[in-house]
Amino acid sequence: MPENDSADRSTEGMVDYNANSLVQKQHAMGNHERIEDLAGRVMHLPGPLNLTDYGCGPGQSTIETARPALTTWLAANASRPISICFADQPGNDWDALMALVTGETGLAQGGTLPRIETPVGSFYDRMVADSSVSLATCFFASHWLSASRPYEAPNTVWFADLTGEARRKMWQAAESDWTRFLLMRAQELQSGGYLFVSTLGAIPETGEINDTAASGRGVYRALQIVTASMVDDGLLDRKRAKCFVFGLWFMTETEARRPFETNADLQDAYEIDTIAVLPVDGGGDLFAAHLDNPVEYARQYTGYTKAFAASSLRKQLFEPTLGAGKDTKWLEDEFFRRFEVLYRENTAAYALEQWHLSVVLKRK
Ligand SMILES: C[S@@+](CC[C@H](N)C(=O)[O-])C[C@H]1O[C@@H](n2cnc3c(N)ncnc32)[C@H](O)[C@@H]1O
Repeated sequence: MPENDSADRSTEGMVDYNANSLVQKQHAMGNHERIEDLAGRVMHLPGPLNLTDYGCGPGQSTIETARPALTTWLAANASRPISICFADQPGNDWDALMALVTGETGLAQGGTLPRIETPVGSFYDRMVADSSVSLATCFFASHWLSASRPYEAPNTVWFADLTGEARRKMWQAAESDWTRFLLMRAQELQSGGYLFVSTLGAIPETGEINDTAASGRGVYRALQIVTASMVDDGLLDRKRAKCFVFGLWFMTETEARRPFETNADLQDAYEIDTIAVLPVDGGGDLFAAHLDNPVEYARQYTGYTKAFAASSLRKQLFEPTLGAGKDTKWLEDEFFRRFEVLYRENTAAYALEQWHLSVVLKRK
């Protein structure tokens, strides 16, 4: 499928998702043991076993998320009813996902597939039946907020560099979304089931803006530099750019814990197993192996960044600048051409840094 066809998909650029989702794939593979452990913990629960992967995306990583649970459950009892739900928004590339699920690297074991379901909707709403999930996973997805709202953000496109009232308002929205996500999952998990959320996080760092270092600061600051250069050259609408912020929030441990301290329904619903933000081995520069080859380093970063950033840029900057129905492809090409040049000339200055937030909760 040509990239243009994905213009309205929320999982933008994910036509090439497998090629540009290295971080997600590494993450799913790196969590095999933890998923096996959690799958083992829910095996004693009554009824059919179900894993639901929320914000599954269209790629191999969701399969690698489900596989350890499936293998654990089948090894314990091959005849027990098992289902896997891949849950995502309507715009997900469901055809690509089902081709992978049923293909050679998919989930068939001994020639048979478990029951596969594909709930479509938002994880800020209910997605599956009451008490039907034994193990819920959500990787690299829950940082996307329920809506992208405008904020007073003249010098940044990124939540972590917001200050004052704009930051307060955006955190209010992010905290409310996180609370809602957890409350929805509490209705869907069976008693004794587990929720495992893992995504990009942030850590305290004295001297950094807001005394917080958030994952991806190099990449988002590079996106701001390109946005500002396009505005200065008259290619992007200045007014729009002034209030555009990517609709995401990478939480610190304190932020992720906050709803559990204030919301009685959450306290009633969950026992906290883990809430932690940890650095990833090596710091998180996915393309460090290409550091001595700036052309390749820049090419890789551009592909990776385009996969998650292009759709927000298109909807909130390119389309409003050009007007409804106009072809935004040239603007997108120019944006990512400049982005690639920036990385070619500065390489590691804008490298991806990652801290991963892990949340493991047991449904009481
Ligand atoms: C970066 S992808 C991660 C996919 C997969 N979990 C992985 O680790 O590779 C983020 C996914 O979250 C999904 N997503 C974002 N907001 C969502 C929402 N409100 N409800 C359901 N899915 C959502 C997107 O559609 C996208 O497929």
